[in-house]
Amino acid sequence: MKIAIGCDNAAVSLKRILNDFLATQKDIQIVDLGVDSEDDLELYPNVAERVALEVASGNCERGIILCGTGLGMAITANKVPGVRAATCHDVYSAERARKSNNAQIITMGARVIGPEKAKTVLKAWLESEFAGGRSAPKVQRIVEIEQKYLSIEK
Ligand code: RB5
Repeated sequence: MKIAIGCDNAAVSLKRILNDFLATQKDIQIVDLGVDSEDDLELYPNVAERVALEVASGNCERGIILCGTGLGMAITANKVPGVRAATCHDVYSAERARKSNNAQIITMGARVIGPEKAKTVLKAWLESEFAGGRSAPKVQRIVEIEQKYLSIEK
């Protein structure tokens, strides 16, 4: 599985830890889209956009985006058509984000979650797949609503 990862300056340390963790997992290829230093103050929406585009284009199956809270990254990534990004700081939400919402992107906040729990949450999200069934028409409805507002003339 090819996964894009990115962070802002608030989550550089967490990204390093999660990259090391991902390197121990089977069949995972990481595309790291920065930032790589706490001194790099690139605005978080730029990073979120890069990761979201990798996923929306099909170049990567999944994305991981980290910031202080995970919130700004999810808000931004969800602006990119085709992307479903969910902020998850617990295992149950991470599983449901895949099984119910088919979220291809997980966001987490380095100021919210510690590294060990972040690894556990990430593992649950990586190992969960979309369940389809009763969730399928709901996710399809998200896609339709997105299409509806994309076609509104500016
Ligand atoms: C810092 O820029 C902080 O706003 C950011 O890391 C993130 O928490 C945004 O949602």
